[in-house]
Amino acid sequence: MEDDSAPQNDLPKPHPSILKVIEQKKRIKEKLSGIRHKIGVYSAKGGVGKTTTAVNIAYTLKSMGYKVGLLDADVDCPNVTMFLGMKDTITGDYPLTPIEKDGIKILSTAMFVDDLKRPIIWRGPMIGKMIAEFFENTDWGELDYLIIDISPGTSDAPLSIIQLLDLDGFVLVTTPQRISAVNTMRSGGMARRLSASILGVVENMSDGSGNGGREVAEALGCKFLGSVKADSRFNELSDKGIVPAVEDEDIKKQYVEIVNRIVGG
Ligand SMILES: Nc1ncnc2c1ncn2[C@@H]1O[C@H](COP(=O)(O)OP(=O)(O)OP(=O)(O)O)[C@@H](O)[C@H]1O
Ligand SMILES: [Mg+2]
Repeated sequence: MEDDSAPQNDLPKPHPSILKVIEQKKRIKEKLSGIRHKIGVYSAKGGVGKTTTAVNIAYTLKSMGYKVGLLDADVDCPNVTMFLGMKDTITGDYPLTPIEKDGIKILSTAMFVDDLKRPIIWRGPMIGKMIAEFFENTDWGELDYLIIDISPGTSDAPLSIIQLLDLDGFVLVTTPQRISAVNTMRSGGMARRLSASILGVVENMSDGSGNGGREVAEALGCKFLGSVKADSRFNELSDKGIVPAVEDEDIKKQYVEIVNRIVGG
């Protein structure tokens, strides 16, 4: 019979590429050690309001006195800077320093592109590499919350973020519509399979037409964080680079409820 207690020195050595990934994860962990909470805002479905939710949650957290960072990790269509009316560019020399606006540290792939209308075309391996480099080389300093706006879909970009970061978890965004809810359940399923936790679900653009947010929360067995009403002021204000939760008391109240549930755990 084999002796289980014998030292297992003859175990095969992990492949160098696996060791490289482990080392990289260690470096990223160290680099982000000043950040108390990292929260991804995500949905497999496009256009449901992920960026809107990420930006408004970040500003609401800031208004509550927290130190906040906002990372636009949507590598295909980085929109955070447009939502904030920012035209800043950075050179891309390491280390990267986020640009501060309204007391929030902001970093976006859009800051590396001089023409926002030009498409950014990434191949799979480049996406993972770029996201890893972003995390490894950015000086965020001390933060209470880093909010990360994640690309839609269930492919390379969200996958890399889930695998590279020790996230507290995801805030999933859906609209009331059944189609959106089903796709958001898919995002939740992917997060779960990769052992990432789900902090809860936000129903955005609520208009009484459906119950998508609660359906997703029930299906995934997680918290329903609250809803944000469909409101034409979102388009008007965002196009001007004004944050709705800062400008409008009624909208702010809706985000405060959501953020209280996130912060409350
Ligand atoms: N509650 C709301 N009421 C009305 N319009 C909204 C609301 N939330 C967001 N919008 C608008 O919906 C559009 C899509 O929002 P947003 O860009 O945040 O979605 P997204 O999920 O990040 O999209 P993408 O998948 O392209 O990244 C924007 O024009 C935004 O102003
Ligand atoms: Mg977006």
